[in-house]
Amino acid sequence: MDLVKTILVLGASGTVGSELSRLLEAAGHTTRRATSRASGPGQVHVNLVTGEGIADALMGADAAFLMSPPGHVNQDELLGPVIEQARTHGVQKVVLMTAMGADADPSTPMRKAELALEASGISWNVIRPNWFMQNFNSYWLHGITHAGAIQLPTGNAKGSFIDTRDIAVVAADLLQRSEFDDREFDLTGGDALDHNAVARILSTAAGRPIRYEEITPDAMRAGLLSAGLPAPYSEFMLIILNYFKLGYAERVTDAVQTIIGRAPRTFAAYASEYRDAFVR
Ligand SMILES: NC(=O)c1ccc[n+]([C@@H]2O[C@H](COP(=O)([O-])OP(=O)(O)OC[C@H]3O[C@@H](n4cnc5c(N)ncnc54)[C@H](OP(=O)(O)O)[C@@H]3O)[C@@H](O)[C@H]2O)c1
Repeated sequence: MDLVKTILVLGASGTVGSELSRLLEAAGHTTRRATSRASGPGQVHVNLVTGEGIADALMGADAAFLMSPPGHVNQDELLGPVIEQARTHGVQKVVLMTAMGADADPSTPMRKAELALEASGISWNVIRPNWFMQNFNSYWLHGITHAGAIQLPTGNAKGSFIDTRDIAVVAADLLQRSEFDDREFDLTGGDALDHNAVARILSTAAGRPIRYEEITPDAMRAGLLSAGLPAPYSEFMLIILNYFKLGYAERVTDAVQTIIGRAPRTFAAYASEYRDAFVR
C-alpha cells in the first residue's frame, strides 16, 4: 500500500462516500468529507453547482474520490473544475465514480468527465458501477412498501447489481494503491438477476410477498417527477432504464475480484442484511 494521508471524498454523506470515508479513516487516513450543506468537524464545504470550496478542499490533499450528485446531467461541467484544481494543487491520485455504460458515447457529459481526468496528468482510476443493490432500499422502496411491488419499466432483462459497500471497498483500495493506476473498471455483482428473481429474494428475506410489476415509461416518469426529481434528470433516468430493458446491464465483470481479491457480495446477502427495510 502506498502511504496516502489526506483524502478528499465528494458525496461523503451519500451511500458510497459515507462507507468509503469510514473505511479510509479506519485505515488511519485523514478524510475531508465534502458536503454542500453547512460543514462540521471533519467536513469541508464543497458545492459543485456553484464551485464554492473546491480549491480549498483540494489544497494539501494527497488523493480524492470524485462523483457527481444525482439530479444533475452536466457531470463534466460539475467535475471539470475539481479535476483542474486537483491538478493545480498537486493531488497525486484521483478515483472517479461514474456509471456502467458511461463510455458508450464520447459526447455524453459523464464520458467527458472521465476523459478530462484521464488527460489531466494525475494518476487516476475510473470506476463504473452497475445499478446499485441499495436502490431497492431507497429509490424503489416506495413501491415495495406501499404496493408490495418493485415497479420499473425494465421488462425481463437482467442486471448484475452491485452492493455499494463493495464499491466503497474498491474505491478505498484504489485510493491507497498504485498497482492499477490509469485503468478503467466496470464494477458488477457476481451474477445477473431479472426483477422477478430480485423480488423472490426480497420476499424470502422480508418474510412477505414482494413481486415485480412492469410499469410504462410514462408511469415511471410520473413517479420520478412526483418524487421531486428535476425533469432533465427524470428523462436521463428513463433513458438508462431503457438501456437496462435492452440488456445492457446484464454483463458480469471480474473487476471486484481482481481489485480486492474476493468475490462481490451476493444479492441474497444484501437482502438479508437490509431485511428491516423490506419488512412492512
Ligand atoms: N444508483 C445507482 O444505481 C447508480 C449506479 C451507477 C452509478 N451511480 C452514480 O452514483 C452517484 C451517486 O452516488 P451515491 O448513491 O453514493 O450518492 P447519494 O447517496 O445520492 O448522495 C449524493 C451526494 O452528493 C452530495 N451532493 C449533493 N449536491 C451536491 C452539490 N451541489 N455539491 C457537492 N455535493 C453534493 C450529497 O452531499 P450533501 O447533501 O451533504 O451535499 C451526497 O453526499 C451518481 O453519480 C450516480 O450516477 C448510481
